[in-house]
Amino acid sequence: MPTPAVSLLENGAVLALQTGAGVLRFHGVWLRDNALDAATRDPQNGQRLITLADLPEDCAISSAALRDDLVSITFASEGKTVDFPTQWLIDHAYDHAHDATRGHAPQHVQLWDSALNDAVPIGHFPDLKTNPIPKRDWLAAIRTFGFAKLSGVPIASGALFGIVDLFGHVRETNYGRHFEVRTEVNPTNLAYTGLGLQAHTDNPYRDPVPTLQILACLENSAEGGDNMVVDGFAAAHMLNQVNPAGFALLSQYSARFEYAGEAGVRLSSRRPVIELSPEGTLQAIRFNARSSAAPMDVPFDDMPAYYGALKQLSDIIDDPASEVRFKLAPGEAFIVDNTRVLHARKGYSGAGKRWLQGCYADKDGLYSTLAALEAAP
Ligand code: FE2
Repeated sequence: MPTPAVSLLENGAVLALQTGAGVLRFHGVWLRDNALDAATRDPQNGQRLITLADLPEDCAISSAALRDDLVSITFASEGKTVDFPTQWLIDHAYDHAHDATRGHAPQHVQLWDSALNDAVPIGHFPDLKTNPIPKRDWLAAIRTFGFAKLSGVPIASGALFGIVDLFGHVRETNYGRHFEVRTEVNPTNLAYTGLGLQAHTDNPYRDPVPTLQILACLENSAEGGDNMVVDGFAAAHMLNQVNPAGFALLSQYSARFEYAGEAGVRLSSRRPVIELSPEGTLQAIRFNARSSAAPMDVPFDDMPAYYGALKQLSDIIDDPASEVRFKLAPGEAFIVDNTRVLHARKGYSGAGKRWLQGCYADKDGLYSTLAALEAAP
């Protein structure tokens, strides 16, 4: 492996760092903006102390040298010298091939199908509360698979809040801080009846959608009522393989979603069924037959193909080969990434009782907690 070395290119506009894996180039303006010195970044909280207006017009580098594990750079116009740890530059490099495929999976994500029935990720609540290692692993499983089960949850009303306390905060909605899922007379929402429900993401009519849903089981002696989950990213990926033009339509145009099932509530959103980042990374799936409203943003000529693609995606989601299925026992719960994994319920009979409590939360807190645990020594 060659020793790291630095050199300047384009009259100092670019720094070249020779590493064992090849040359990484960095622009002067990028290095100046992201300098790590105490005048640019607060050493305590890491927050940037300058604005873009503080950057000099010319961020050309006049000299660069390698000292031990540091790259030392002097900016010509300011005469300012800053040091970057070589490893920091390697970790933050952007001079490499980027996956620009429309619909590629995000980092850390593993797509799955019914084969995952044999290896459903699960954590034990008392362990997660007391030990950071299983907690880290459980949170990482949610990042990888978009869902995970939990056992050992106290069988008590409101115990699901203890699950959210592991990583973040409840997202309160018009359904309350939590909602009850059991048979009701005169239900205001189909989720509260004994009917089976097609796999869906929750609340696509909100913007932003709740990014996590937690469902905890308190009673389950009814016949049926199994829970199912489907990987929406895997379904989108499959659609992209069989019908790339249809995939493009579902990601290019906004769908519409609505909910107005209660007095004083008229929720609506205009967002795509398959949402991609500007780089083409799968970002979110919104799929919910009950909440779909008439699409109005698809050009007239594309509407038949749009519906064709939507139907194809629906068929992939309904295919038993896509689903992981489990029946929750009292004291068990599951969490889904509501931007990726669809959940469903098989119909259940009136015999016996089924009582679940659900609530929403958000992924930012979960990922923050996970990142902090992963960074812990
Ligand atoms: Fe739901």
